[in-house]
Amino acid sequence: LDNGLALTPPMGWMHWERFRCIIDCDNYPTDCISENLFMDMADKMASDGYLDAGYEYIIVDDCWLAMERDSEGRLQADPDRFPSGMKFLADYVHAKGLKFGIYEDYGTHTCGGYPGSIDHLELDAQTFADWGVDYLKLDGCYAELDGMEDGYAEMEAYLNKTQRPIVFSCSFPAYKGLDANYSAAVEHCNLWRNYGDIQDSWDSVVKITNWFSYYQDKLLPYAGPGHWNDPDMLIIGNYGLSYDQSVAQMTIWSVMAAPLIMSVDLRTIKPEFRDILLNKDAIGINQDVLGKPGVVKYNKNKIKIWVKELVDGSYAIGIASFRVDGKPYQIEIVLKDYGLDNEGYLINNVFEDVEPISVSVTEPIKVLINPTGGVLWKLIPATKVVVEVTFRKFGN
Ligand code: DGJ
Repeated sequence: LDNGLALTPPMGWMHWERFRCIIDCDNYPTDCISENLFMDMADKMASDGYLDAGYEYIIVDDCWLAMERDSEGRLQADPDRFPSGMKFLADYVHAKGLKFGIYEDYGTHTCGGYPGSIDHLELDAQTFADWGVDYLKLDGCYAELDGMEDGYAEMEAYLNKTQRPIVFSCSFPAYKGLDANYSAAVEHCNLWRNYGDIQDSWDSVVKITNWFSYYQDKLLPYAGPGHWNDPDMLIIGNYGLSYDQSVAQMTIWSVMAAPLIMSVDLRTIKPEFRDILLNKDAIGINQDVLGKPGVVKYNKNKIKIWVKELVDGSYAIGIASFRVDGKPYQIEIVLKDYGLDNEGYLINNVFEDVEPISVSVTEPIKVLINPTGGVLWKLIPATKVVVEVTFRKFGN
């Protein structure tokens, strides 16, 4: 969508994968979907380095609504869980230097059964703008599949009419499957979910990764500045992924140019997982302004290798192992086989605290990759001379 927004993949935090539809604040006072949860997360986003790293949007997902619209037909938040209202929450989030996102559904109801937008698109767009919403995720439950593209286009027109810059996240491709009109998604949406929901498990990461790589020839041409495929939230720091699996998810999402939307309890996340989410080089690769998603160029022996072109002639290479045979697995990579054509490169290993190494484009590089783990490289073109100079600089 050519609205000047999301020129790089959106980054933020969204409640759904971790906090779901917890509405029982008596039994789950700190985890229930309430203004307190979002204020806590906004505080952490600002104080613990996430905002500085680029995570900008704090997004309320399903289950925030009251069961009824107000007397003028406007949406309203659940009065018990959001007693101060959504305008207050948006102001709070903005005061932290963050942006505010919200969830609705194109159909008659949200997936959680709350009032949908179908007969109120214009009013709802204006209500969101009045509250100070900066990002709208419009889900697709309880909606006719026929004509869904037109409905989302209509909503985009209403958002545009409010004159407030609002990132528009569409869900119709996830509901319509590969038959969806992806050109319409590019035209009317800043990002779109393509596939099923992520769950808190490595299996789920694998399923999503396999689907996107299997259909990459169809999907990748649609992604670029202002319009992104969305494989769903980062689940790093929750119950389901080991450290290595978390490095793998961050590697894959970074090279795919996927939106980086965390869904984790930022109040209790362990430091090693926080470090993965805050890794500057991984984020730099993801946020590269060329906006080209990486391509899977190797897919054998339960290893996938992506190559992502970066704006300054550098590359990122992401390697993920889906092997479960216990020992680190060794592969050999010759860069020229992956389309890299400079004489030599300086390789920076993003998740390992090691010196960069210099390689020629024709020499085999041995890589050890942990079972269900990931390796992410940034490769900077370097002539022999530059490589030697750089090396002296990094050497003792
Ligand atoms: C389905 C979406 O795909 C999820 O991300 C989440 O928004 C739920 N609906 C909420 O009900």
